[in-house]
Amino acid sequence: MKDAVSEIEYILIAAVDLGGVMGLSGTLPWHIPSDFKHFKKTTEGHPMIMGRKTCESLKGALPNRDNLVLSRNTTHQKDGFLFFSSQKSIEDWAVQNKKNKIFVVGGAEIYSLYLAVATSILISRIETKVVGGDTYFPEFASPPWHLEEKIKNEPGAQEEFPWHLEIWKK
Ligand SMILES: NC(=O)c1ccc[n+]([C@@H]2O[C@H](COP(=O)([O-])OP(=O)(O)OC[C@H]3O[C@@H](n4cnc5c(N)ncnc54)[C@H](OP(=O)(O)O)[C@@H]3O)[C@@H](O)[C@H]2O)c1
Repeated sequence: MKDAVSEIEYILIAAVDLGGVMGLSGTLPWHIPSDFKHFKKTTEGHPMIMGRKTCESLKGALPNRDNLVLSRNTTHQKDGFLFFSSQKSIEDWAVQNKKNKIFVVGGAEIYSLYLAVATSILISRIETKVVGGDTYFPEFASPPWHLEEKIKNEPGAQEEFPWHLEIWKK
């Protein structure tokens, strides 16, 4: 029988340009409402793990989700966010709170940490190449990863760039 820890499913969710860029000067390099909508719909009701720098880039905690933050500095605090100093302490929290599906929402350092244990990656592939991007989604190898599905969106009239969803599985 599987134990509670091995039953936890980790899913990475990210928006990434055609060259792998996902961040610029501590923030997102684009504003794409339909991608925010997809992110909200996918993650609502589930815990999300983020790095301290990504937490700092947010005005506040995202509603209807546990906002879990990894930081080595145990004195950090921010309203609506729960801080943890290790993956193990998040795992213990998840087991205690009976959470078995967790989204990993970035940034790059935190995606790198969770690639090994994740079973899915949802990439909103933003169809542009950002100039001067400074944060890149980590390389991931195929195998073990394979592109299971590619879903084209109808671009919104006011959107900065078109994008499509890539679903990667192990
Ligand atoms: N496009 C997207 O989908 C997307 C998603 C999220 C973020 N972003 C962008 O990505 C950028 C931020 O990414 P980033 O890689 O620079 O930072 P990050 O991953 O958000 O945060 C890094 C921080 O996480 C903590 N950390 C890392 N490893 C840890 C470990 N093993 N144990 C405990 N704490 C640990 C450390 O915090 P302390 O320094 O406090 O110890 C570290 O400084 C921003 O530009 C943001 O807008 C993009």
